Amino acid sequence: MKTIIEPFRVLSVHPIRMTSREERERLIREAGYNVFGIRARDVIVDLLTDSGTGAMSSEQWAAVMRGDESYAGSESFYRFEAAVRDIYGFRHVIPTHQGRAAERILFQTVCRPGHVVPNNTHFDTTRANVEHAGAQAVDLPCPESRDLAAALPFKGNMDLDRLAALLRERRQDVPLVMLTVTNNSGGGQPVSMANIRGVSRICREHGIPLYIDACRFAENAWFIGSHEEGYAEKSYLEIAREMFSYADGCTMSAKKDGLANIGGFLATNDDRLARQEVELLILTEGFPTYGGMAGRDLDAIAVGLYEVLEPDYLDYRMASTRYLGRHIADHGVPIVEPPGGHAIYIDAASFCPHIDPLELPGISLTVELYREAGIRSVEIGTVMFGSDDPETGRPASAPHELVRLALPRRTYTQSHVDYVVEAVLDVFARRREMRGYRIVEAPKTLRHFTARFAPL
Ligand code: F0G
Repeated sequence: MKTIIEPFRVLSVHPIRMTSREERERLIREAGYNVFGIRARDVIVDLLTDSGTGAMSSEQWAAVMRGDESYAGSESFYRFEAAVRDIYGFRHVIPTHQGRAAERILFQTVCRPGHVVPNNTHFDTTRANVEHAGAQAVDLPCPESRDLAAALPFKGNMDLDRLAALLRERRQDVPLVMLTVTNNSGGGQPVSMANIRGVSRICREHGIPLYIDACRFAENAWFIGSHEEGYAEKSYLEIAREMFSYADGCTMSAKKDGLANIGGFLATNDDRLARQEVELLILTEGFPTYGGMAGRDLDAIAVGLYEVLEPDYLDYRMASTRYLGRHIADHGVPIVEPPGGHAIYIDAASFCPHIDPLELPGISLTVELYREAGIRSVEIGTVMFGSDDPETGRPASAPHELVRLALPRRTYTQSHVDYVVEAVLDVFARRREMRGYRIVEAPKTLRHFTARFAPL
């Protein structure tokens, strides 16, 4: 069969409230034209994030009922630890309430002022946690990633030459190297096994540990299985195990490829480091057999980590993202090519070339998609990453103006995706009418969450 269907039946539903255009017009105005300020009940299709927004399976809900809420030595923890060790292969498994807590514990333990942490591209919380520990976060994306429209298979790769050069010059200042799979801030693009192996080889030559930011490891394994020579016959579990075999540890947000609504972990093979990390864990997250989670969360993740590697699930997941991407891009909508794993990124600067980057084309597009159809997306551009030039004090734009449509896992069906396609194409057809926005008020850091805007 050519048609790839959702490989599940729906046994529990959450109603969607339909809103009118007039209502949405008022709601977005009251929210200061920032979609973060809109209540979820006023959103028809919510593509703000794929983090913690997925649907759990009946097996996961059954596991929730088995949750052992003992403070110390809970059975749930041992089931969770066994799943993580089996799939990821690391000795020490440290549970945290979500990905950024794992990042904070890792970077506070290993980073000092003056240190440099290379990554293919840091996610914003990863960068913020590196910087919070006094170190500098450096992005080393491969050169092909700069061309948004180039449809190449592994645009999430790290630039190996730049990594080698950085380590030759500043080896003493680099406490670890991170590799994000898939590369979220770089358009959800995957990293090849050859690249993971290459990064690992360079790290080992210099005696520097390699950590994987593993949030979307199963989606990355699917891309390796589908597009990299020598992996077509391997299972996604085997591919995942090989990916992690080249690393010394990882950080994980189980809100993505853990198929859970909350949770995460930090894993490492370093005994001494693990002891220090556990001390910090007890201080800020909880006892080492629950971290920041309830026993039932640990059990849901232990099941989710295997379900996410099932071929039927991954084929459907990638088909729906690709379907959304192709159906808008083939009608001329500029997107980051090829479609990524968890999201489609529209290039808002090319979508509305008549709006200057400093007039926030990404905000204009998020507002328009909400107005048109109640769709919530997120700007990844000048509001999120732009800043005021430290010398002139003038606002500076980000390198790209993107709008991300992130697909929650197992939550929406093909007709929801068709609805999104229709809305994007309708807005595209009348894009000349779109206007820019200005910032009315904004906090100093992470301004995209709470800034308010006004149309120009
Ligand atoms: N690393 C990556 C690559 C991420 O995408 C995220 C979260 C994190 C780390 C942090 O994990 O949210 O559990 O603390 N990304 C979400 C997103 C928020 O919308 O892309 P967390």
